[in-house]
Amino acid sequence: MKEFKRYTVTAALPYANGPKHIGHLAGAYIPADVYVRYLRSMGKDVLFVSGSDEHGTAIPNQALKEKTTSRAIIDKYHVQIRDCFRKLGIAFDIYHRTSEPIHHETSQEIFLNMFNKGLLDEEISEQYYDDEAKAFLADRYIVGTCPRCGHTNAYGDQCEKCGSTLSPRELINPRSTLTGNVPALRETKHWYLPLEKYEHWLQEWILKGHAKDWKVNVYGQCKSWIDAGLQSRAMTRDLDWGIKVPLPEAEGKVLYVWFDAPIGYISATRAFFREVSLGKLEFAQPQRSFGLVQPEDWKKYWQDKETKLVHFIGKDNIVFHCIIFPIMLHAHGDYIVPDNVPANEFMNLEGDKMSTSRGWSIEMHEYLEDFPDKPDVLRYCLLANLPETKDSEFTWKDFQSRNNNELVAILGNFVNRALVLTQKYFDNKVPHRSTLDTIDIKAIEVLRVLPSRIAQSLEYFHFREATAGLLDLARLGNKYLADTEPWKLIKSDPVRVGTILNLALQIVANLGIVAEPFLPFSAKKINEMLNRKPETWIDAGSDVLMAEGHALGVSSLLFEKIEDGVIVQQLEKLHNKKLGIETEVYSSMPLKDEITFDDFAKLDIRVGNVLKAEKMEKSSKLLKLIVDTGVDHRTILSGIAQHYTPEEMVGKQVTLIANLKPRKMMGIESQGMILMAEDAKGKLKFLQPSDIVSPGAVVS
Ligand code: MF3
Ligand code: ZN
Repeated sequence: MKEFKRYTVTAALPYANGPKHIGHLAGAYIPADVYVRYLRSMGKDVLFVSGSDEHGTAIPNQALKEKTTSRAIIDKYHVQIRDCFRKLGIAFDIYHRTSEPIHHETSQEIFLNMFNKGLLDEEISEQYYDDEAKAFLADRYIVGTCPRCGHTNAYGDQCEKCGSTLSPRELINPRSTLTGNVPALRETKHWYLPLEKYEHWLQEWILKGHAKDWKVNVYGQCKSWIDAGLQSRAMTRDLDWGIKVPLPEAEGKVLYVWFDAPIGYISATRAFFREVSLGKLEFAQPQRSFGLVQPEDWKKYWQDKETKLVHFIGKDNIVFHCIIFPIMLHAHGDYIVPDNVPANEFMNLEGDKMSTSRGWSIEMHEYLEDFPDKPDVLRYCLLANLPETKDSEFTWKDFQSRNNNELVAILGNFVNRALVLTQKYFDNKVPHRSTLDTIDIKAIEVLRVLPSRIAQSLEYFHFREATAGLLDLARLGNKYLADTEPWKLIKSDPVRVGTILNLALQIVANLGIVAEPFLPFSAKKINEMLNRKPETWIDAGSDVLMAEGHALGVSSLLFEKIEDGVIVQQLEKLHNKKLGIETEVYSSMPLKDEITFDDFAKLDIRVGNVLKAEKMEKSSKLLKLIVDTGVDHRTILSGIAQHYTPEEMVGKQVTLIANLKPRKMMGIESQGMILMAEDAKGKLKFLQPSDIVSPGAVVS
């Protein structure tokens, strides 16, 4: 692996439009933090930046929902998210904001630079416009059906289901999220980045250059985009929230949020060096010792080829970090491009997709309210289940068993036994080590190789493997004590017990180093109990970290057992939250226009029995049903193929509108409609009388 002089590590700037959940943590922030803490421990020069993404239509959209201003939204969620990250031990050098003036300046500077070099194409085109809201509909102001995968709620800039980047004109059945209206087209001028001009460069840089070292999920996505051919993309928007386009003829236009947000990494770096050089050290992490710092030092982290740039993101951000932003950096000319983008897949929750808007999530602040003293337990569980190569899952049961069976029973138990026995037999001082037995030598051999094995895993972004390695180190200690049984020897051979505990304490000291990136709070506690300043990772693997005679500190338990009741409570809370959100969603759906009784009486609603059911060829949605309506046997096509199998439908009683004008679909006439209720997740459930009735019974 190539050696670099310094590292710039970024973690995606979360939209400050709402709380962030533990899936976001697993996707980007926890692995980024582990990587950075490891590098710092190795003595590397590393800068770790992130911050709030405060532009884009996501912000005013949320302001609309909360009936407040965009400014109030970003102020509220910036603080909330930043504080949660801090409490979880995510040790950014700076957590910046894209609403800061220095970011506006930096973004405008980069835009102008590209504009002046002729890298942006000016184009007048027709864009969707909402007459009622008097606004162009960019990005998240417009939804419709994804032309690639058929998802019915794709945004104007991206389909969250299949990950495609879109433009509003590609959406099928577009609707305004401001009014629900069908928008009309209007002419407007914008500035485009011609991505297709950089295809050759991308082929060389990613497809040839990073085939080996990028994760297959990341490389695969990039390859399929490059192979499919890229399209020019507008870098400006007609919006009143964002960074003004710095051109006289661009009144009322702002930079595209995905143009400015990644530049936020650069602005954050600039802000960091400016602040530190002014002596405002609250920005600097205590573990970072700077020499003399100049404001211009930011350039080393973005413009020097000896710097390794690594972006930590979730998979929905891959196209922006591997294609669009690198093209911007490369086209601009002064900047380095990422060396790696170790994006993760998604983490599901208790069998379903995690989603804040659907209420199926554990938000960071919710976790911290319920488990304020357990940031490390969450870190550990997320790391052990990291969605590195495919989607993974968080369950409360797994959380409990990882805590009880791994953190308490293995790591905590070992550290505690080593310390308590030393207290009891040797007056809390590191005992003398005399001659070593084979079992000791074997343990020392394993101790020597484990930390470097873990380091290797981290260098390659194999966080699960690294986390398992950490536990192996604790297991080594646990097994060593179980095999040597010092508590049985203390009467007969105290000298031998001294040797055993000396070695056990060396393993504890190693844990104090190696656990730090993963479990920073627990590592700190271990070092306090050992009464020592932690060494760096470079010393890990040594069996002489603890000097004989050194007095230990006060010991206490590292982790505590989590009882069943706590888990039951969390599951209840999760289900209740979802129900609450569903009720909210339904209650906010406006009622349709009033009808008269005569309108209603026109409907002929009947109960029918499903006699036959089969899948329709070439349709993933429709089932063909033969229904006994009491009056006749008729064919009804129903869009329930993704909700019921044909076998499930046969013999069921359903309700149907029997006098609906027949409609031809895929060459077959459908003579009626089955009534369905749709739950908040979009699952359809057919309606039945509460008891069996004869087919043909009239519903009124
Ligand atoms: N705000 C975006 C999201 O949540 C991520 C922005 S990452 C950055 O998906 F590169 F733009 F900063
Ligand atoms: Zn899609």
